[in-house]
Amino acid sequence: MSLDPNLPSIEHLRERGRKRVPPFAFEYLDNGCHSNLNMRRNTEELREVRLEPRYVLDYGGADLETELFGETYAAPFGVAPIGLQGLVWPGACEFLAEAAHAARVPFILSTVGTASIERVSEITEGKAWFQLYHPTEDELRDKILDRAAAAGVPVLVLLADTPTFGYRPKEIRNGLAIPPRMSLRNIAQMVMHPTWSFSQLARGKPEFATLAPYIPKGLDMSHLGQFMNATFSGRLSSDRIAAIRDRWKGKLVVKGIVNPEDAARVLELGADGIIVSNHGGRQLEVGTSTIQALPALAAEFGDRMEVLFDSGVRGGPDVACALASGARFTFMGRSFMYAICAMGARGGPHVMTMLMRQLTQVMEQLGCERVQDLPRHLAPRR
Ligand SMILES: Cc1cc2nc3c(=O)[nH]c(=O)nc-3n(C[C@H](O)[C@H](O)[C@H](O)COP(=O)(O)O)c2cc1C
Repeated sequence: MSLDPNLPSIEHLRERGRKRVPPFAFEYLDNGCHSNLNMRRNTEELREVRLEPRYVLDYGGADLETELFGETYAAPFGVAPIGLQGLVWPGACEFLAEAAHAARVPFILSTVGTASIERVSEITEGKAWFQLYHPTEDELRDKILDRAAAAGVPVLVLLADTPTFGYRPKEIRNGLAIPPRMSLRNIAQMVMHPTWSFSQLARGKPEFATLAPYIPKGLDMSHLGQFMNATFSGRLSSDRIAAIRDRWKGKLVVKGIVNPEDAARVLELGADGIIVSNHGGRQLEVGTSTIQALPALAAEFGDRMEVLFDSGVRGGPDVACALASGARFTFMGRSFMYAICAMGARGGPHVMTMLMRQLTQVMEQLGCERVQDLPRHLAPRR
């Protein structure tokens, strides 16, 4: 695995990526909702966590390996589900699935990903997880669940935090669509970003690969929100979760949980874990950061189900702080995508190596040997 010395942080990757991707596509990735307040809070408040080093001890080195749901992963982080990755960078979904598999970390495929369940399962030798937006029709839900089971998906990630589509001014202004809308503004942006445009031509237009067989003919796809609202009904209920628990024999994780009432409910309904997540600040502008919600959830539920974490993580130190605050495992959405925007396929191995190196350095500095010992280094809040 290689590390490009010119791009040694997520911040560098984001900056390079921003230059290579047309604004209408990059803004889809880079923004939250409304004025981006909760998106910013996620990282800012995560960075208020402080860790304490121990220097006088016999130290055997940092071991990043983490066991989760019976699988031993090389590091305590994985790739969060992102819809429409292929619009942001052609082939991004496949590149990240390949990189995650090679690095031995989990990759979660979105229902609205641009590679199919079967293709991603093939790339990852059946190791990829699958995220489900709740379909409006039970029949569609069952078809997708059965395909995921047939593809050998070990963990189903059911999304809880999208009862409605986020209000995202940049997407509204850009008229985010599949394929991209050929407005004069968008065409001008494509001309200014030739690498992106030629890669799109070479790969063919991005599509919702898993959903392609079910998309009704004539459905207006000019706005992503319209398509999502027509096909999915994201508001979960006990009945909906119970029906899925009944049919799905693998592990079940509910993503987007930020309060103890929801956590208790999904535990009761048979969930094996939760991802404490606010969708990277893309849904509720006036919500709390996930790092604020995490410690209480980990303390109350951590011994009864897996408490996982995402939103705002932008590097190894952030992973260490989330784990020290009680998360068993972290996921990142934008960080991995910035790497692909900046470097194409090479961005996958690069960002995996970089994050592992950063986390290793923090653990070595702390005098922490195993990721599960990070909570011992949490400094008291002043
Ligand atoms: C552009 C974009 C698209 C996303 N699409 C999905 C999706 O299809 N399904 C899903 O469960 N989460 C989706 N998410 C949320 C991510 O899975 C994850 O929760 C979020 O990116 C974490 O925040 P971070 O980007 O700060 O790491 C999306 C996030 C972004 C930025």
